[in-house]
Amino acid sequence: MSDLVQLTKDNDVAIITINNPPVNALSPGVPEGISDAIEQINNDPGVKAAVLIGGGRTFVAGADIKEFGKITSGKTQRGVAFLPLLLRIEDCRKPVVMAIHGTAFGGGLELAMAGHYRVAAPSAQVGQPEVKLGLIPGAGGTQRLPRLAGVAKAVEMCAGGNPITAQDALKFGILDRLIEGDLLAGAVAFARGVAGKPAPKTRERKEKLGTAAQNAPIFAAARENARKKQRGLMAPLAAIDAMEAATKLSFEEGCETERKLFAECLFSDQSKALIHVFFGEREVAKIPDVPKETPIIPVNSAAVVGAGTMGGGITMALVNAGIPVLLKETDQAALDRGLATIQKNYANSVKRGRFTQQFVEERLKLIKPTLRYDGFDAVDMVIEAVFEGMALKKEVFGELDRNCKPGAILASNTSTLNIDEIASATQRPQAVIGTHFFSPANVMRLLEIVRGKATGKDVIATCMQLSKKIGKVGVLVGNCRGFVGNRMFGPYRREAQFLVEEGASVEAVDGALYDYGMAMGPLATGDLAGLDVGWRIRKEYRHLEKPGVRQPLAEDRLCEMGRYGQKSGAGWYKYDAERRAIPDPEVAKLVRQWAAEAVIQQRQISAQEIVDRCIYALVNEGARILQEGYALRAVDIDIIYVNGYGFPAHRGGPMWYADTTGLKKVYDRIREFHQQHGELWEPAPLLKRLAEEGKTFADFSKDQGAAA
Ligand code: NAI
Repeated sequence: MSDLVQLTKDNDVAIITINNPPVNALSPGVPEGISDAIEQINNDPGVKAAVLIGGGRTFVAGADIKEFGKITSGKTQRGVAFLPLLLRIEDCRKPVVMAIHGTAFGGGLELAMAGHYRVAAPSAQVGQPEVKLGLIPGAGGTQRLPRLAGVAKAVEMCAGGNPITAQDALKFGILDRLIEGDLLAGAVAFARGVAGKPAPKTRERKEKLGTAAQNAPIFAAARENARKKQRGLMAPLAAIDAMEAATKLSFEEGCETERKLFAECLFSDQSKALIHVFFGEREVAKIPDVPKETPIIPVNSAAVVGAGTMGGGITMALVNAGIPVLLKETDQAALDRGLATIQKNYANSVKRGRFTQQFVEERLKLIKPTLRYDGFDAVDMVIEAVFEGMALKKEVFGELDRNCKPGAILASNTSTLNIDEIASATQRPQAVIGTHFFSPANVMRLLEIVRGKATGKDVIATCMQLSKKIGKVGVLVGNCRGFVGNRMFGPYRREAQFLVEEGASVEAVDGALYDYGMAMGPLATGDLAGLDVGWRIRKEYRHLEKPGVRQPLAEDRLCEMGRYGQKSGAGWYKYDAERRAIPDPEVAKLVRQWAAEAVIQQRQISAQEIVDRCIYALVNEGARILQEGYALRAVDIDIIYVNGYGFPAHRGGPMWYADTTGLKKVYDRIREFHQQHGELWEPAPLLKRLAEEGKTFADFSKDQGAAA
C-alpha cells in the first residue's frame, strides 16, 4: 500500500485514512492507495463496512493542480485512472462511508460521491470549483452530483464553482448526516449502522434527474446566466452540457461526454491561462532577495493621512482586517465628509448582505478620526493618501518623520510620484515604501508595492504580508513613472484614442476590448476614473513631449469643454442619473472635426486591429518594464493586470497572452504598427530578441530567476 493512504480497523469497520498533507490532494499514489485498500476490504471477511477519512485538517481538497500542466505538456501519464477507481469504490461489497471535514472540493467531492454514504463535520464545505480553473469535473462529478443534489443545484455548483456549506449539502442530499463532535467515531458508528444493508450506488440513482420538460428551462437559464456573468468562458457552458448529458444518457455515456468536454477544457488556452493566474498569485509573493525568513514588523495599528476617495477605502481595508486606524484630515469638514462616505459604503454592504450590522459597528469603532498628528507616535504603520503633489507629500512625510516612532513604516499611496524623492523628506528612507492601492481601495484586490532605493527588506516583507492579511494580492514593483500598471496603461489608452481619431467609433473601440474580455472598454474606463486626471498630468509634463511625435488630442479637448467623464455627467459618453453610459453623437461629430483639422486620415478599422493596437501597446511597454527590471517576472505584470485593470483572467494577463499568441507574431504586428504610426511603436528590444530566439517572456523570467 502507498504510504499516502493507511488502512486500519476498528473491529468490523475498516478505516481508510488519506495522509497527503497539506490538503490531501489526489497526487500520484493516493488513488493507488485507495484502490489497494478497497481490494483488501472486499477480501476481508471480518470487515462489514468502511470509513474513508482525510488525515490532518481536511478531507481531499481537490486534484493536484500541478498534475494538469504535466498532462497537457505530455510530461506525465495518469497513474491509476480515477474514474475506474470511483467505480471500484461504488462496487465495493461493503458499504463505504465518506467522512468529510474541512473541504471536499473538485476531485475530493467526486471521490466522496462514489461512496455509499457521506457524513460530515458541521463546519465542512463541499464544491466543484473546477470552472475557476477553466475546467469541469472530470471524474463523474457532473454525472453523480445531479443524481444526489438534483439538476438545478448541481448546475449551480458545477457551472458557478462556488462551495456550499455542510448544512446546505445536507439539505440537498449530498450529505446523509452531520456529525457533531468526533467525526471518525461518528462515522464508524454510522458505518456499523448501515453494515449488511443494501448500499445505494449514486450512479444508479435516478429519482432526482427530473424530466426533459422540467430540465429544459433550468439549462436555458443557466446558459444565459453563464454567458452574462462568466463572459467568454467556455468551462461553465461545458459543465452545463455535461450535466444535460447526465439527464439524457446512461451513466456510462454521460461519463464519456464529460470526459470529452473535460479534455477540451483541459487542453484549452483558457484553462492554461487560468491555471497560470492561479499559480501566479502565489509566485508573486516570492522576492529573490527578500527571503521567507526576513523579519516582519508587527502591524497592530495604523494611521491613514487623508480621508478622501483613497484614504477612506484604505481605512476600510485595514479595519476590515481588524487593524485599528487613526484617520487624519486637515479640517473638520473634510474629516466629516470622509467618515460619512465610509459609513455610506458600509451601509450599502449591509444592504447587499456582504457584512452584518454588528460587523460594521465593530469596524467603525476601530476608526479614530483626528485633525492632528497626536497619537502617531504609537502606530506601527502610516499610509499617506493626500492630494497628488510632490511638495505636499514631502511636507507630510517630514511631519511623519518627526511624529512617528522609530521602526514605523511610512507608506505613500502616490500613483505617479517618485518614492525616493518622497523618502528624501525623511531621515529614514529605509522606512519609506509605496503602497499603491486601486480604486475602490476596499474592493480592488491589487496592491502595487513600490520599492524605493533605500526601502528596507523588512519593510517590503511586512507590506507583502500585510497585503495578504487585508485580502489583497501584493505585487512588488520598481520605482518608475506610473510604476508598472499605470505606465502600461498610458500607451493602451493612447492607442484607444488614436483609433477613435483615425475613424473608429467610441463604441467600436470599447466594444472590441469588452468582447476581448476586458471588464470595461478603455474610453469608458477613462470616464469612470475622470478624464481630467490625465489631462492635468499631461499639462504638467507637456514640456517633456518630443516635438513631432503624435499625441492624442480628443481627450484634452473634451476636458477643455468640461467633459471630465462620469463625475461631470459627460465625457466620451453622456451619463444618465444612474450613471449609465449613453453614446453621444455630439462627441462623434466633434472627433471627426478635430481629426479633419489635424489632417488625420479616416478609414474603416476592424475589431481585430482595435484589439491588437491596444493590447500590443500593453505588451510592448510590459516588455520594456521587464527588461528594465521594474517588474520581477512576466507573471507579476499579468497578476497586476488581472487584479487591477480588469484584464480577463482566462487570457492570463497581457504577457501570457503574448506568449500564447507567439512573440514572433506579436513582434511582426508591432513592426507593422511601427511603420504605419512611427516611433511610439518602436518594438521593445527584449521583445525583438525573444521573438528572434523563439522564446517567451516566461522563458526570459525563468532564465533570469536561474541566473539570480
Ligand atoms: P482625494 O482628493 O479624494 O483625497 C485627498 C484627501 O487628502 C482630501 O480629503 C484632503 O483634504 C486630504 N489632505 C490633504 N492634505 C492633507 C494633510 N496634510 N493631512 C491630512 N489630509 C490631507 O484624493 P484621492 O483620489 O484619494 O488620492 C489620494 C492619493 O492616492 C493621491 O496620491 C493619488 O494619486 C493616489 N491614488 C488615487 C487613485 C484614485 O483612483 N483616485 C488610485 C490610486 C492612487
